[in-house]
Amino acid sequence: MQHITASAPGKCILFGEHAVVYGHPAVAVAIDQRINVRIEMTESDSHDWKLDGLTFDPKRHPHIEAIKHRLWPNSLGAPPLSIQIGGQIPAASGLGSSAALSVAASAALRVARGRWLNNSNSKNQPEDWAEGFSSALDDTDVHSSNQPDDSMRKGELGNKVEFIGGSEAVDADECALIAHAVEAIAQGGRASPMDSSTCSHGDVVVLSDCIEEGLEWQYSRRLKTPEGDREWQIHTVKPPIEDVYLVIGNTGVHAPTSKQVEKVAEMLKQQPERIKEIETIGMIAKRGIKSLLSGDYESVGRAMSENQLMLQSIGVSSPELEDLIRAAAPSSLGAKLTGAGGGGCMVALTTNPKATSEAIELAGGITIISTFGAQGLAIEEAAESPFWIVE
Ligand code: PMV
Repeated sequence: MQHITASAPGKCILFGEHAVVYGHPAVAVAIDQRINVRIEMTESDSHDWKLDGLTFDPKRHPHIEAIKHRLWPNSLGAPPLSIQIGGQIPAASGLGSSAALSVAASAALRVARGRWLNNSNSKNQPEDWAEGFSSALDDTDVHSSNQPDDSMRKGELGNKVEFIGGSEAVDADECALIAHAVEAIAQGGRASPMDSSTCSHGDVVVLSDCIEEGLEWQYSRRLKTPEGDREWQIHTVKPPIEDVYLVIGNTGVHAPTSKQVEKVAEMLKQQPERIKEIETIGMIAKRGIKSLLSGDYESVGRAMSENQLMLQSIGVSSPELEDLIRAAAPSSLGAKLTGAGGGGCMVALTTNPKATSEAIELAGGITIISTFGAQGLAIEEAAESPFWIVE
């Protein structure tokens, strides 16, 4: 049976949520919990896709539908597939499950399709691709609703000269870019690239409105949102490995990100002087990044706890989050909410994950333990690929 399995990690935010909306740096860390996407050729004659054994319903899975348009269009003769989604990331809890799904699905489909290159001496750099999406290419448009021809490059650059298959055809930037575009479609045009880039590249990702000194700059990401054009600079960091862990505590309280972001915007409208608190979060994040780079995890933890005080002050924490953060404090280096707040999850940095996890569970949270900075997207299996080659 022809099948491919790809996986991508979830994420949590170490510093800078909310302030990142106003251009300050934010830091996200990939976690050990992953989403797996397995695709195989269906055996039926139907043109319908299957998802977890049932007929695929595009309305229920807008992410998959948008990826399908970009990488696996019926109109070019792509055969129907059966897709199975598994993993350990709870949905809608601020841990990046939808971005991880989009990254893993994009990677699996790229393996299933392979990639045409436009010259025979290719080094497989984006400029050598005859098809695909990259931050380095502006003659293909991942955002266009006019897919899939937009993934083919124009003129001689689109000449299909050499074919590569297997995991070599996969590109982390392409998967992050597709995932960001489809997140934006699913979220009414508003999505930061934090989740998509972290779930694709893994380790630690820093987002900012400028290129930050001392970090490995990867690319710029742009998005036209209903409020205007946005641009982010994406950097990766590989901090020195130490014996530290993340313990994530889920309050089980659902609080939509959009509401929390609106709350902060309203506060700033009523009291513009409170932008100082947002700026303080930015300064804490910068200090936290320096501590990370030097492997000083005690200072990283302290910066996380300071960040929490500011998140509390701008009104995005909650009694449930505070309970879990207080419970984690004695056994951890630092703890704070992660994501939009108001509910959702908190995260503690600790050298004693068992004690921290037990304390959080005693206070009523459901915990997940992760090492610090997991591997990005991975191709787990690729039997008999490609499934289909664009003629
Ligand atoms: O809850 P999450 O993981 O979607 O994170 C939201 C982070 C915010 O800074 C609050 C919003 C954003 O778009 O960055």
